[in-house]
Amino acid sequence: VNMNQNRLRIEDMDVSKICLGTMYMGNRDSIDLSYKLLDKYVESGGNFIDTANIYSFWVEGFQGGESETLIGRWLQERNCRENVVVATKVGSGYQNTSKGLNTKQIITECEKSLRRIGIDTIDLYYAHADDFSTPIEETMEAFYRLVKAGKIRYIGASNYNSWRLEESNLVAEFNNYLKYSVLQQRYTYFQPRHAAHPDFNQVYLTEEMINICRSRNISILAYSVLLNGHYSNVKKELPKQYECAENVERKKILDYVASETNLTANQIVILWLLNHEPTIVPVIGVSTKQHITEAFDALRHKIDIELVHKLNFIN
Ligand SMILES: NC(=O)c1ccc[n+]([C@@H]2O[C@H](COP(=O)([O-])OP(=O)(O)OC[C@H]3O[C@@H](n4cnc5c(N)ncnc54)[C@H](OP(=O)(O)O)[C@@H]3O)[C@@H](O)[C@H]2O)c1
Repeated sequence: VNMNQNRLRIEDMDVSKICLGTMYMGNRDSIDLSYKLLDKYVESGGNFIDTANIYSFWVEGFQGGESETLIGRWLQERNCRENVVVATKVGSGYQNTSKGLNTKQIITECEKSLRRIGIDTIDLYYAHADDFSTPIEETMEAFYRLVKAGKIRYIGASNYNSWRLEESNLVAEFNNYLKYSVLQQRYTYFQPRHAAHPDFNQVYLTEEMINICRSRNISILAYSVLLNGHYSNVKKELPKQYECAENVERKKILDYVASETNLTANQIVILWLLNHEPTIVPVIGVSTKQHITEAFDALRHKIDIELVHKLNFIN
């Protein structure tokens, strides 16, 4: 595999086109399995690891923080801190921390994440969900303080509305703080029904957000791109908000393009995201090494333009 073909730049960071989600590592998934998955990901050419302070308090028997702790142990045992880009998040509620992006929360949660991961600097630090009750100035100033202290390098927004993303970056620009370099939202080939509620505080990527990111040079990442495996296994329940006639049509097209290209539906979804202009980087969730192989194998292929048009309903 051509390494350059597998990489892209976010600010001055070279990251792989496949980002690894680690939500269930060290909690639902055992330490042993998690290590195997992380090793396989790096062997495959991956270097972009996504976690959050809260992963995964909702799994029975865990409080949150376990994913970061596991990644920290793995980085140390494999001695590979320098070779990977570590992204984590702040702002969701867990343990005795409530949801929010005030100064105290950002500063103290960053310290906790650094300690758990056992690193000096977080490469990419996300606001996990917007906080409408804290002034944007306060949030952006707190992040900038961490940048100046060398505790984080870049910041990202996740689950933000477009106007709040734009306003945050204007406030940052006006005050000479750092701006958000990344937007991470929920997105996949299936479209959610209009006005259907996603789970928790999740926000879908929209055309408008894509336009803002294009013009402001903000990198886009997408999560839950494989709908928990539904594209390849219809027995995997489709989240309610995706049940609609349009997605029945989309599934037919997806399966048609998959058969024409000899790729899997999951691979087509991954390539469709990466082929998007601007590119959309998938944050993949995996529970087997095969899932990782399948994602990276997709990178060796291109979809013909006619098939891309078909996927996009362009005749
Ligand atoms: N920013 C946010 O608010 C936010 C929200 C959610 C997630 N995330 C990030 O995104 C990551 C992924 O999220 P997600 O778990 O919701 O993603 P997802 O793509 O919807 O689901 C991942 C699951 O899909 C199945 N799968 C993956 N590859 C497959 C393949 N090749 N063939 C068949 N099935 C496959 C696996 O299910 P089985 O394990 O059952 O086989 C896997 O656990 C998380 O770890 C997290 O880092 C961020």
